[in-house]
Amino acid sequence: MRIRLLPPRLPLAAFALFTLVIGLWAALLRMGWNLPWLQSGQALAHGPLMVCGFLGTLISLERAVALGRGWGYLAPGLAALGGAALIAGVPGLAAPVLIFLASLVLIAIFAVIVRRQPAMFTVTMTAGAIAWAIGNVLWLAGVPIPEMVHWWMAFLVLTIVGERLELSRFLPPSRYGRPLFTAAVAFYVAGLAGSSLAPISGHAVLGVGMVAMSAWLARFDIARFTLRQGGLPRFAAVCLLAGYVWLAAGGIFAMLADRWPSVVELRYDAMLHTVFLGFVFSMIFAHAPIIFPAVTGLRLPFRPVFYTHVLLLQLSLAWRIAGDCADSFAAYHWGGLLNVAAVLLFLGNTACALLLGFRKPGHADALFALSLPERVKNSRTAPRAAKRSHVEAD
Ligand code: HEM
Repeated sequence: MRIRLLPPRLPLAAFALFTLVIGLWAALLRMGWNLPWLQSGQALAHGPLMVCGFLGTLISLERAVALGRGWGYLAPGLAALGGAALIAGVPGLAAPVLIFLASLVLIAIFAVIVRRQPAMFTVTMTAGAIAWAIGNVLWLAGVPIPEMVHWWMAFLVLTIVGERLELSRFLPPSRYGRPLFTAAVAFYVAGLAGSSLAPISGHAVLGVGMVAMSAWLARFDIARFTLRQGGLPRFAAVCLLAGYVWLAAGGIFAMLADRWPSVVELRYDAMLHTVFLGFVFSMIFAHAPIIFPAVTGLRLPFRPVFYTHVLLLQLSLAWRIAGDCADSFAAYHWGGLLNVAAVLLFLGNTACALLLGFRKPGHADALFALSLPERVKNSRTAPRAAKRSHVEAD
């Protein structure tokens, strides 16, 4: 089947990747590596570039594709413009305003999606978009990032957890699955709200919610089953399960954040990057072979070499976090550099696989190019088709 490519998809995805690279550069500046600066505020722009410029654009783009309406592309477009303003060092509120508007459009997208399909997973992802908007309001209001960063984190965590819940529908229903999921997310959201009002107890509840969500995912996610298969399904399962361990670690750090916010301590770095890098990037590594073809229209065959970027990220992040806990600047410093190397290796491995692949849309393209109701209608056949495409990829 020939899939019609929507024009803004490729430039928006390419710009998101460019933002990622500039965000990594800013991360190294922030860690004290001696690199040239693009503009004076570049190191401070690292967090907003990563969360809003890169992931805000990509997540909004994926949702706009699922929505299938032109106005949906306003969300990734505004997020990308906000990212461009951050990269150019535009002074004032231009970047936060553009990014805040992007989050409002994303909420509007989800309003349509929830109306089409009222379900726990669509509601969870909507909560993620609302968390992003609240974080952006706080950012606009001048609240320091360490005091509002959990809202940005919740944007990514709830979006990913919602997506995993959506996929777990293919498993046989469990009596306790849904109530436990609801309880874990409720804890997390309650802690999130508390984190802005009473930080110490709020972060403790938030941490419990994160550990509970991680335990739920480890128990009920499809990854437990696909781990026994070969090729891409096993690769994705390894990434997903590693990511769930990092999410639990992030929860434990949140629970232990007794003197929050304490920016000078390396534990701040550990609390952030167990989730932002360990959880979020493990998910990106797992989903990339499906999402990249959907966005670019190019085939991305799975290659065993993909394990190299996964392994490098897991080991270097463990080293960095150990350095954070032991107050070892050297481990933090070198671990961070290797984290960046792992992400660049991922981009390199993906680019090589794309070049080696041929221009033939696979099942994943078809699934993601469809509107949400079509995706849902087709979801019964998805596991069979996905299995077929994995076999092809092997
Ligand atoms: C790839 C390697 C990365 C490195 C080397 C890195 C480095 C850093 C450093 C050194 C800090 C400052 C920590 C502190 O003040 O104690 C930081 C903060 C932060 N990072 Fe990263 N980071 C990386 C990846 C990411 C990713 C993938 C995300 C998001 C998805 C992210 C989001 C943030 C945020 C939101 C902050 C807080 C910003 C602030 O307080 O101003 N980082 N990062």
